[in-house]
Amino acid sequence: MRIAIVSDIHANLAAIEAVIRHAKSVGYDSMICLGDVVGYGPDPLECVDIVRSTCEWSLLGNHDFAALYEPTNFNPVARNAAFWTRAQVFGTTAAAQIEEVLRGLAARQAAGEIDAADCATRSTMLRDPKARVDFLFSISPRHVLLDRYICVHGSPTRPVNEYLFPTDAEQNPHRIERSFRMLTMPSPNGTPQRVSALVGHTHVPGFFLEDREFADSSPSGRGRSDVAVEWVGLPVDIDSWTPGEDEMPRGMRFILNPGSVGQPRDRDPRASYAILETGDTTSGEPDRFTFHRVEYDIARTQKKLHDLRQAGADLDPWLAERLELGQ
Ligand SMILES: [Fe+2]
Repeated sequence: MRIAIVSDIHANLAAIEAVIRHAKSVGYDSMICLGDVVGYGPDPLECVDIVRSTCEWSLLGNHDFAALYEPTNFNPVARNAAFWTRAQVFGTTAAAQIEEVLRGLAARQAAGEIDAADCATRSTMLRDPKARVDFLFSISPRHVLLDRYICVHGSPTRPVNEYLFPTDAEQNPHRIERSFRMLTMPSPNGTPQRVSALVGHTHVPGFFLEDREFADSSPSGRGRSDVAVEWVGLPVDIDSWTPGEDEMPRGMRFILNPGSVGQPRDRDPRASYAILETGDTTSGEPDRFTFHRVEYDIARTQKKLHDLRQAGADLDPWLAERLELGQ
């Protein structure tokens, strides 16, 4: 089974459309979303609709939480974008935009960019704001995948808001170790089993590895880490990358981040996502992950942000500028 893992779409329709096109081209059976469907970007309604219609489930990210409830520890740019997003989702200012989006969909169908069925589905969903709000209120901050991955937006310790930055592996390893310690689930015989995790939130693709050999052989002196952790990032400029046995040794647990679809922050502006290819557990075959980077029409998203801003939306210019910088 091939499971496409997307995260941090951030209301960037051009990016998620490109990722879905790419995922279809390489093949996938189902798609899951690790949260932050909305926030920052210009297309919250369509992005929620795409996740509703395409993903098996989504998690609640901190920006989804902000749009529904309240921004937590947001800077002014993010906070203003969250309140603008809320107004869109709850219909305060959306009527005119919805008509514009419907006209845009019809134009794109006429130009052959999307097919008639896709256009019809998306148009119907756009006209049903109640279902969209119900969907957003139904998503949770934690999900278990295949009985062997705990999926959260932030960290296993704090599923909505905690960041696990690559630099934490060296500068703040206790934060990563604490998350690994929380990665257990009851097995069928009732004993806790150690599992790995899939997370989003930092917008940086890669994975933390837990070095159990180190843990087993290390002295138990006070102040020593009880496990060692390592961050494995993507090789520079790759289009796709499947970590081999060297990078992801069999039997070692990991906390994997597929990167961000709609606002990458590793200085590569291309959309990022991953595909999990499940192994045959009865024969001990490991799961394999492949990271993908996908070019998309950044200028299209930037223009929408600019046009909305010109029309009075409180969306900072930096939200457009950062997309081409990948940060
Ligand atoms: Fe995010």
